[in-house]
Amino acid sequence: MQIFLDTANLDEIRKGVEWGIVDGVTTNPTLLAKEIKRTGRKKEDILHEICELVNGPVSAEGVSLDFDGIVEDAKYLSSIHPNITVKIPVTPVGIRAIRKLHELNIKVNATLVFSPNQAILAAKAGANFVSPFIGRLDDIGDAGMRIVEQIVTIFENYKFTTKVIVASVRHPMHVVEAALIGADIVTMPFNVLEKMFKHQLTDVGIERFIKDWKEAARILGE
Ligand code: E4P
Repeated sequence: MQIFLDTANLDEIRKGVEWGIVDGVTTNPTLLAKEIKRTGRKKEDILHEICELVNGPVSAEGVSLDFDGIVEDAKYLSSIHPNITVKIPVTPVGIRAIRKLHELNIKVNATLVFSPNQAILAAKAGANFVSPFIGRLDDIGDAGMRIVEQIVTIFENYKFTTKVIVASVRHPMHVVEAALIGADIVTMPFNVLEKMFKHQLTDVGIERFIKDWKEAARILGE
């Protein structure tokens, strides 16, 4: 399973990359706006730096809603760095754009996916990735992870090569559930990645080993 960071925060990405387990990054207009506010830097600079830090796909999203605008945004974003994957919401016009970008060899992450049907359409149009938004479905009382299960099964049934990115992740149990289903990728906020390390017994265990070792050293007079 690949781990992506769902953030545009360069400090967080640097830390994650240092750990050596980050395979890619996803951003969206909200996350980029936050980083622009925090750093005062232009979106192009931020995206370029993320791409230089991470050796893998980096998703970026435009805000145009019409076909020509979506395609133009995608061409512009993908010109920033070869690692950019363009996020496009699954709407009728979005699907047309995904097909067009597939023909132009521009990588696409079909975003704001909330149903298996949207994932099927995106895969048929040639999307490289689909991003079901689990947390937002949970937020409205739906079982978010259920659609991941369905999408993974459907893609296996038809040998679609589109990769499934589990998105809108809220906590480490989402990561475990996604891994058990066999989703290709989980994109998570930095705080969820940090929580994946945590277990109280690990902390207690380290403390005890150090204490016992010090005691042995004391006996040996070291
Ligand atoms: C994914 O690509 C999106 O950027 C993200 O997961 C959205 O998550 P949210 O529902 O926490 O905003």
